[in-house]
Amino acid sequence: MTENDFIPRPYKVRQQEGSITWQAPSNIALVKYWGKKKGQLPANPSLSFTLEASATTTRISYSPRNTITDDFSFEILLDSVAEPGFRPKIQIFLERVAAYLPFVKDFHFTIDTSNTFPHSSGIASSASGMAALALCLADMERQSVPGMDDVFFGLKASFLARLGSGSATRSIQGPVMHWGEHSGTAGSSDLYAIPYPYELHSVFKGFRDTILLVDQGKKQVSSTLGHGLMKGHPYAAARYEQALAGLDALKGVLASGDLEGFTAIVEQEALSLHAMMMTSRPYFILMKPNTLEIINHIWAFREASGLPVCFTLDAGANVHLLYPREISRQVDAFIKETLVTFCENGKYICDQIGFGAKKM
Ligand code: PMV
Repeated sequence: MTENDFIPRPYKVRQQEGSITWQAPSNIALVKYWGKKKGQLPANPSLSFTLEASATTTRISYSPRNTITDDFSFEILLDSVAEPGFRPKIQIFLERVAAYLPFVKDFHFTIDTSNTFPHSSGIASSASGMAALALCLADMERQSVPGMDDVFFGLKASFLARLGSGSATRSIQGPVMHWGEHSGTAGSSDLYAIPYPYELHSVFKGFRDTILLVDQGKKQVSSTLGHGLMKGHPYAAARYEQALAGLDALKGVLASGDLEGFTAIVEQEALSLHAMMMTSRPYFILMKPNTLEIINHIWAFREASGLPVCFTLDAGANVHLLYPREISRQVDAFIKETLVTFCENGKYICDQIGFGAKKM
């Protein structure tokens, strides 16, 4: 499909006022997206586990405007309280999606959003937040296009979410999502994410992700800036090759349930992401001393216990601890005895692989 396939024909049904609510989950990339091309297209394909507990619920209420101007009319609430700080991001998002949702200037929108995780937890809410908003708007459009099928709806929501935040494109469905054109993944596209179309071994069903909250403050460097620094980065070409090789190797690992292979790919991806940050110009470090403490303790625990626990990182200091559901009891004890000391205010979030967004 091309971008033109997402431009709708004139609508048959006109919308009146109403409201729509969707809940979209966060996701954690196993193969990371870091670096982008023009138009919010990824420099390399990525693959993620959809999460379940960490999610954003967004309700849009809409009413036709009396006077239509060339600008958008909207207000944003976080937990039912006005949050003007979100305006610039939403404004840019609406500008980008207007060509694909021509009705957006005809309505006044109230966007009321809330997260299951604390806003200041250091967990990026942009993936789940942009996915939830994209789903609401795609659903609003669906009401004007009788007969739109579910597959197209999912792709359009993912396409729109991408225009808000790259990783949001993978927060529509689950349990494993692939975003970015790749010869090894049938049906893949830079424009939207697709549910991973290959075998997933049963060891990954119910796979846990415990998010150890090392630093709950605001990131010093935004991911938009970080992606930009991949332009002209001395190791960019090698990094993109590495991501492709990781994706190809992961295919066999996901099918066979080889957790040693899984660990090797996932941890290398996490550290490569941060290596790119540490070697860009300007360079920066998002890990904190406790990030490294936790990583070293995970390695020591894995060595001593022989249990298949591994970690990944996103663009921040928090550590995602990944492990099969079957060893939850032992890992839970390890977290409480050892890792919790390194978490800010002793906080962590228990999450697991999930199945995608839900209409509320
Ligand atoms: O979606 P963005 O622009 O915030 O980028 C997120 C990038 C990483 O989280 C670091 C990796 C990924 O693939 O999710």
